[in-house]
Amino acid sequence: MPRKRKEVPLSQRIVPELVRTKARPPLAIVLGSPAEVVQCLHAFGGIDATCYQMDVHQAERLRTEMNVRQSSAQVVTMADLWDLPADFQTVLYLPPRRGERELKIDMIEQAFHILRPHGTLMVWSPYDTDPFFPALLKKIFGRVHAPNLGDDTVLWCQREGDRPRRRHEITFQARIADRPSCRFLSRPGVFSYGRFDNGARALAEIMMIEPGDRILDIGCGCGTNGVFAAQQTGAEGHITFVDSNVRAIALAELNARENGVAAFQAVASSHVSGFDGDFDVVLANPPYYAGGSIAHLFIQRGSALLKPDGRFYLVTKQAGDVADLMMETFDHVEAVMHRGYTILSNTETVD
Ligand SMILES: C[S@@+](CC[C@H](N)C(=O)[O-])C[C@H]1O[C@@H](n2cnc3c(N)ncnc32)[C@H](O)[C@@H]1O
Repeated sequence: MPRKRKEVPLSQRIVPELVRTKARPPLAIVLGSPAEVVQCLHAFGGIDATCYQMDVHQAERLRTEMNVRQSSAQVVTMADLWDLPADFQTVLYLPPRRGERELKIDMIEQAFHILRPHGTLMVWSPYDTDPFFPALLKKIFGRVHAPNLGDDTVLWCQREGDRPRRRHEITFQARIADRPSCRFLSRPGVFSYGRFDNGARALAEIMMIEPGDRILDIGCGCGTNGVFAAQQTGAEGHITFVDSNVRAIALAELNARENGVAAFQAVASSHVSGFDGDFDVVLANPPYYAGGSIAHLFIQRGSALLKPDGRFYLVTKQAGDVADLMMETFDHVEAVMHRGYTILSNTETVD
């Protein structure tokens, strides 16, 4: 049975003629899946293009797809889109279906600032009727064009004049037990925006940290777990934050500094590599997407980077598959239920 039009991903549609004719160099393509971005690059035929991604894993996937399909463009990863020069004639934003609302607002806000005067922003929306972008574009650009293209939804507007840079960020405060409370800056696109995640809290309440420990916070997000661990390692300890999202790494660095973490490094990597091992403790709160493959990566790399008697803690809501891999990886595995989560560890844990 043919799929309903609205369920066909952008990567399987023909790039609308309006998008093709309005795309003038230099062009920036903001986010989008590798297949969508390459689909557009092909339609634009060798145009001078820069592809912005916030996550090094997505950027690597995009480069691979570009190699396979022989398209060329510059791929950049940065915490902020608006750190690109304000020199683009066209910016094309490819928002995901069901993506994070606050990140969409942030990207439109930042896209304004990388356009040349009178440059054009286009949004190719995956929705037949987009309920969200027209009002947002009108607010930021003053005027929005929403031509009737039948099957596709493309909105466009032009940069006129200037506007102040508006940062989208929320600071939240959290504490573990009776230790001093910490403040964390969070931003759209980084888990978990505006609040201390319950799974992260469950992990931080169970982990056993000793003074002087060397800690690895894998998939650190804005850095809460490593910062709370640092409260217990004291100044003799060291924290390594690693995440594939470069905005997360910028936040972890900032939050570590603001909360007085004495010794730390923050590394952007999608392979949990690029730094020395020999850790006393590894902390992980892996995402659930990608069919558990990231939890597997975190366990494999985390265990390889741990000292022989080091402690590994992983928090999850779906213990099944992850528990099997933990048992294949470590001689001894314990599971503690806490706050509706399971904390799996290779060491004795006290609830
Ligand atoms: C559930 S969040 C946990 C964030 C934070 N540690 C917490 O507990 O609130 C998972 C994190 O893993 C990161 N991540 C996903 N894939 C990754 C990979 N291949 N390498 C490193 N980090 C990854 C995501 O960017 C995200 O920040």
